[in-house]
Amino acid sequence: MFLINRLPPLFLVTSLTLASLAGCAMSEEMRRIQLSKRSQQLQDASRSTNLTGEEVFIRSCNTCHVAGKTLENIPKDFPDDRALKAYIRRGKGIMPAQPKEVINDEELDRLVLYLRNLNAPQ
Ligand code: HEC
Repeated sequence: MFLINRLPPLFLVTSLTLASLAGCAMSEEMRRIQLSKRSQQLQDASRSTNLTGEEVFIRSCNTCHVAGKTLENIPKDFPDDRALKAYIRRGKGIMPAQPKEVINDEELDRLVLYLRNLNAPQ
């Protein structure tokens, strides 16, 4: 305290500014660390989920195929599940590929079942 009182005011102002700038940089760093932790958590969560076919559909397909839109021809175009699953894994054009990290094998089984029911005659 004794020392600070004796320092010229300008120096005090400068060092305070520097200290607060460093504080900002630090909290920016903390914010980034937290953001990256959060996105890692979200990624892990998406891998470990065990969603139903409907949940997967709503999460990954419904944006484009709202309520099954343009999927009416699945029975004709994909009579067997293997080809349908391969198509979903691969994607096509703007339709994104769906790797196992996003839809695991069990979820894909359930998704296909959901798609088959979607197209079952009412
Ligand atoms: C970004 C939009 C988009 C998303 C998300 C999307 N699709 Fe598609 N889907 C398309 C488009 C566009 C086509 C037509 C592709 C083509 O033939 O060029 C298509 C075609 C298909 C077809 C072929 C239909 C047929 O009879 O030929 C199936 C099956 C399909 N999508 C299933 C799915 C499933 C299941 C999901 C979710 C995992 C999904 N799509 C997510 C846009 C999307």
